[in-house]
Amino acid sequence: MTENRLSVQGLNIDYPTARVVNNLSFTLGNERLALVGESGSGKSMTARALMGLVRKPGIVSAEKLEVLGRNLLTLNQRGWRSLRGNDIAMVLQDPRYALNPVQTIQAQLEEALTLHQRLNRRIRLEKVQDAIAAVGLDLPVLSRYPGELSGGMGQRVMIAIALLNNPQVLIADEPTSALDSRLRHQILELLVEQCEQRKMAMLLISHDLPLVAEHCHRVLVMYRGSRVDEMPARELPQATHPYTRTLWTCRPDATTYGQMLPTLDRTQNLTEAASEHR
Ligand SMILES: Nc1ncnc2c1ncn2[C@@H]1O[C@H](COP(=O)(O)OP(=O)(O)O)[C@@H](O)[C@H]1O
Ligand SMILES: [Mg+2]
Repeated sequence: MTENRLSVQGLNIDYPTARVVNNLSFTLGNERLALVGESGSGKSMTARALMGLVRKPGIVSAEKLEVLGRNLLTLNQRGWRSLRGNDIAMVLQDPRYALNPVQTIQAQLEEALTLHQRLNRRIRLEKVQDAIAAVGLDLPVLSRYPGELSGGMGQRVMIAIALLNNPQVLIADEPTSALDSRLRHQILELLVEQCEQRKMAMLLISHDLPLVAEHCHRVLVMYRGSRVDEMPARELPQATHPYTRTLWTCRPDATTYGQMLPTLDRTQNLTEAASEHR
């Protein structure tokens, strides 16, 4: 049987003004699961809860919230430090805001390593160089500053940092949305290749449904904080749930360029639609 690396059951995330994630349940084994849904549906909040990064006054509660069998609801600061960036790591949308502009790439990779491992200089350097090579960059990049990198290179550096400590779970929150279409494919292919090589699981948050259909095993569809649909990712083109269908047809591509895109019917009750659909 597969062993779950993430177990989420009845996850709620509340702010004084609103519930932003509502009764969400899913598991992640050694596989790639995509989280899709329009902007504001609670995807990033879910990722943040799994990384212990939901800030006050946000409140995280759940029946179960586990990473590699460790209960996140009772984890202390020290537990989080050993888990985050080590067993579970995250890649964000835009490297420009995630990297330190006044430190070289090498310094930032070394720092990410020393946070979790005591290593001598030679081994540290070796690991840093391996990580840079693994993401398809050349070693001279190590002496550069983030501002000197293109968007695609910056994203590769972010992935190198996330991979440094060989996490078992990688969360990628729209890792390609700041990139053009050719780079999007390259970065996704890199992530998938690293998942396979390292037997790493991935939770991919993405707007790009065709990319998800191609590269993930399963997809979970969120709407206003709740799960509305779930299916094998390759079945996305044949989705029958009305919301999932709309998401699929909403994507702009060469054939719809310059035309009006379909919009979601806000008056439709999705829970009703979902139960009709079942
Ligand atoms: N600090 C906050 N206080 C209150 N609501 C927030 C806060 N941060 C985000 N939200 C709300 O939480 C909802 C989900 O946000 P998010 O998870 O970022 O959506 P997604 O990643 O799916 O686009 C949004 O409606 C957003 O407005
Ligand atoms: Mg988001």
